Amino acid sequence: MSPRKLPPGDKTLSPLGIVPRFARDPFGFLSEQRQRYGDVLTMQGPLYRPNILINDPDLVYQILVTQADQFRKPPLLQRPFVSTFGNGLFFSEGDFWRRQRKLMQPAFHHHQINRYGEAMVQHTTAMLQGWQEGQTLNLAATMRALTLMIVVDALFQENIGPETERFAQAIGIVGEILAQQFVQPWLVWLPESFPLPVLRRKRRAVAELDRIVYGLIAKRRADAAGRTDLLSLLLAAEDEATGERMSDVQLHDEVLTLFIAGHETTALALTWAFVLLSQTPEVEAKLQRELDAVLAGRAPTVADLLHLPYTEAVIKETLRLYPPAPGILREALTTIDLGTLTLEKGDIIWLIPYFNQRDSRYFDQPERFWPERFAPDKSGRPLERRIPRFAYYPFGGGPRICIGNGFAMLEARLLLATLAQQVRFRLADGYQPRLKFGATLGPDGPVPVQLIKQ
Ligand code: HEM
Repeated sequence: MSPRKLPPGDKTLSPLGIVPRFARDPFGFLSEQRQRYGDVLTMQGPLYRPNILINDPDLVYQILVTQADQFRKPPLLQRPFVSTFGNGLFFSEGDFWRRQRKLMQPAFHHHQINRYGEAMVQHTTAMLQGWQEGQTLNLAATMRALTLMIVVDALFQENIGPETERFAQAIGIVGEILAQQFVQPWLVWLPESFPLPVLRRKRRAVAELDRIVYGLIAKRRADAAGRTDLLSLLLAAEDEATGERMSDVQLHDEVLTLFIAGHETTALALTWAFVLLSQTPEVEAKLQRELDAVLAGRAPTVADLLHLPYTEAVIKETLRLYPPAPGILREALTTIDLGTLTLEKGDIIWLIPYFNQRDSRYFDQPERFWPERFAPDKSGRPLERRIPRFAYYPFGGGPRICIGNGFAMLEARLLLATLAQQVRFRLADGYQPRLKFGATLGPDGPVPVQLIKQ
């Protein structure tokens, strides 16, 4: 048999492959590979397994949509998440995933999601009221606290009172350690029960989350009548064919998964939006004009969003420049012919929306923060119709597209409209955000800002 012809890429004899270089500087490494080798390239994974990075929108379309059932999420990368959250929607596979997705989808229908709009605005207004002119804040932590409160409310409609702080702390610790595991794979190879301080800390935080979530499930099972929170909808969801409902364990796994998937990403979108606005005064002023014209000082409602196209464009443009989930990974289940590329069973595929979305073939001045690019053209076609489907995909695509997509867009627009109407954030003198590229795309460290009331 002739040796397999792989797309170009750096070669190394080390059985660790790219791992040390990736761990040192994930973003720098991937950018350099992309620049050097173009749209389809091979990175040598541990034990010589090919990792193929793909930037071509047509190949992305085949992988996520038309041939989606020939791939799975790579088990090794899933491991630390699964041992933390169990078999929730983000991580499950096959028939089990299909059944859960079908059960949960109605709870994410826009009629259901829109009901959370009012609470989203209320939480934001309450936070605003506690702020003083000139005060300094860590923008990233502030947005995280706000979106966590909102997702707790949407899931439970329950004031978990003094538990909220402990819950937030535990979620924070777990998120931080998962991010570390994502870029330091040796932490994934060890069993989670390994007596290492970092893993012990994670186990303690997970136990705290489990205690709170199981407590809430028991409470809700005892009294679910008339409630519209996500947990109650999930409790009531029945499998069409068998009439079966979810077990406590399954509910727990889904709820924890929604917590982790459902607050950090939206918080990052808002953090980046405010960073970009403070760096781009003409966009900030235009957003302000739209908010003043439509809202004239009152808090936004879901119905107002139809009249706030520039607010929406600001969010979309932020998700283009800083997709909070910057990479999507898959593993080939068999030999797959994608036309210009043949994959073999076990190949790991890297799709990086961050790269596609800054590609000058599809976006004029790709590095510029320019929400106007999302405006419809003369014939009314929005940008997304004028470029290949997978040149812009912050929420992924195909059957595993983000289930919280509508929730996130509703939340991001409402929070931006509420906040930008009342305050501006000025980045501290000399502060330049640096990217932290991992399972999510955040700023590295705190984002110090000064608050200016409008
Ligand atoms: C701006 C905010 C968000 C972004 C950028 C985002 C991005 C993504 C992406 C790219 C995926 C696909 C991953 C893959 O195919 O491997 C995904 C899946 C998922 N997201 Fe989101 N997400 C956001 C907000 C949310 C929210 C608010 C929720 C829940 C309330 C949520 C829950 C999920 C779940 C459960 C999945 C797995 C779906 C499945 O596999 O069936 N996400 N998200």
